[in-house]
Order: sequence, then C-alpha cells, then structure tokens
Amino acid sequence: MNTASAASIAVVGPGAIGTAVAAALHEVGRTPSLYGRTPRDHLTLQVGDRVITVPGPVRVDPAEFGRPVDLVFLAVKATQTEAAAEWLTALSGPETVVCVLQNGVEQLEGITLHAPRARIVPAVVWFPAQAQSDGSVRLRGDMRLSLPDTSAARVAAEALHGTRCRVELTANFRALAWRKLLQNAVAGLMALTHRRAGMFGRSDIASLALAYLRECLVVARAEGTELGDEVPQEILDKFQASPADMGTSILTDREAGRPLEWDIRNGVVSRRGRALGVPTPISDVLVPLLAAASDGPG
Ligand SMILES: NC(=O)c1ccc[n+]([C@@H]2O[C@H](COP(=O)([O-])OP(=O)(O)OC[C@H]3O[C@@H](n4cnc5c(N)ncnc54)[C@H](OP(=O)(O)O)[C@@H]3O)[C@@H](O)[C@H]2O)c1
Repeated sequence: MNTASAASIAVVGPGAIGTAVAAALHEVGRTPSLYGRTPRDHLTLQVGDRVITVPGPVRVDPAEFGRPVDLVFLAVKATQTEAAAEWLTALSGPETVVCVLQNGVEQLEGITLHAPRARIVPAVVWFPAQAQSDGSVRLRGDMRLSLPDTSAARVAAEALHGTRCRVELTANFRALAWRKLLQNAVAGLMALTHRRAGMFGRSDIASLALAYLRECLVVARAEGTELGDEVPQEILDKFQASPADMGTSILTDREAGRPLEWDIRNGVVSRRGRALGVPTPISDVLVPLLAAASDGPG
C-alpha cells in the first residue's frame, strides 16, 4: 500500500480510540473516511491544550457508502461488532486489511466471521482515550499499538508510520495480548464495586485481585502463552500506583448503563479454562455477576 498516494483508509467506530487514530492519520495528511452509528460533521481530539479536528462527515449508511478500501481500522466495542458487520462486508475486498482496535485475545476469530474476505490484524491498544460530554475525545496518554509481525500488520503499521501513534510489530503478540487481557480482566472488579483504582489499596481487594490474576495466568499458560510468574503482582502494583480516581472503560460503560465487554475481558478466561480443563473458581463467580450487570434481566 502506498500511503503517500492517499491509499483508502477507513475508520469504523469513531469513538474514543477511533477518533484518536483518525486524528493521528489526519495530522499527517492521510485523512481516513469515517463510518459510524451517529452522524457527525467532524471529530475532535484534545491532546493537552491542542485540538485536532478531523473533517467528516461520519457516514452511517453502509448500503449507500460502503465500497472496498485498502485498510480499515475497526474501533467499535466488541459488543457492537455484530451491528457493525455490515460496514465490514461493504468495505472489505480480498486485499483489504482490517486492523481490529479492540481489547481481548479473540479479535481474529470474532472478526473473520464478519469479514471472511479481509486480512484481519489484531491489535493491543495501550493508550487511554476518553469520550467527553461534548462529543470530543481526550487523549490521556501517548498513543501506542502492538501488532503481530505479519504482512497484513505491516500495511497498518505503514499507514501509521510518522504519526503520533507508535506501532510495534512483535513476534510475541500472543503474550502481550494476554498480558493486556489480565489487566482488563482485573479492572472488571471496578465495574462490580463501582469504585476506581483506589480500591486496590484495600488489602482484601488486593488479595482477591492477585488470586484472580493468577487464575487468569494459569489459563493463559495452558493456552501456550509465555508469561512470567511476576506478571500478576506487576499488574496489581500498577493499579495500586495509579491515581485513586483512575477508572476503566468497563466502569464508564457500567455507570452509563451500557452493555459491558464482559465476555471478551472476563468470560474468555472461564470459557478457555473450561475447554482446557483448567478450574477457574474466581471467574465462575465474577463472570455471571458482570454478565448480569451488563445484560440483565432485572
Ligand atoms: N477507550 C480506551 O481508552 C481504550 C483503551 C484500550 C482499548 N480499548 C478498546 O477499544 C475498543 C473501542 O473502545 P472505545 O473506548 O473507543 O469505544 P467507544 O468510545 O464506545 O467507541 C465506539 C464507537 O463505535 C461506534 N459504533 C457503535 N455501533 C456501531 C455500528 N453499528 N457501526 C459503526 N459504528 C458503531 C460508536 O458510535 P456512537 O457514537 O453512536 O456510540 C462509537 O463511535 C474496545 O474494545 C475497548 O475495550 C479502549
């Protein structure tokens, strides 16, 4: 793909992460087409005092506007993938690369189902971005993605080359994805308590978090993932060192009464554990609570 000659790039799901990636591309003159659910004239990213405006419009009708592009950045929540599948069908040809900017370790399986013709690239998104009440998005850290070292991933890396979004191609993608999953899984405790990172300062919560992280680690290793014994404590240390009011997107969704990404962040551990014959007693309590908090009924 020749990024210099304005190869066609699309962002599907211009929310917190989608806006950040669209702005990074726009800043270097590779403005992507925007496809979403809510029509908008433009997107706005706030980076410190700087405001980046990405020209729209955000198109919302796949039947009218979809045609194959070179590269799609898919940034809908995992709970929204099915509803966004029409975009994937409309935008994907046999050469199209779909880079999936979603949490979890199941992006390949989840998206191939909806875009069987495309070349799917999973990503680990390491930066936080937050939608504001005025519709703009605030970038809350340096932009960084990890991608597997594949030819399709290199298309996405090339598109982002020279932008504010740093891309690392890694031979050890699976381990990075699982490490991020452990972090996301334990953050689910915040959605259950409606509390922020300060809660990990309690000794009872710290013990529970560590036990849960170790349970997730056993499943990750049973899958063949190389992660060290130190990982659970390192993740807990990070939460304990965070500002007490630091939240997480699953808590934000819970507070807004939106569906939660409980299945890809927590359910996956018990599902994979069951398939591998690994007991997951902590997940077996947490996952139904998160599922019910997300989906009801009641
Ligand atoms: N935010 C973070 O800091 C962060 C960090 C790491 C990883 N992640 C992961 O990145 C993924 C995206 O998260 P996010 O925080 O960016 O979510 P988000 O802010 O909720 O953005 C999702 C976007 O998708 C749009 N959308 C919903 N249904 C759609 C459809 N049918 N077709 C097209 N677009 C549709 C939404 O439109 P509306 O405007 O209508 O809602 C919204 O613009 C998640 O898997 C999340 O876990 C997020």
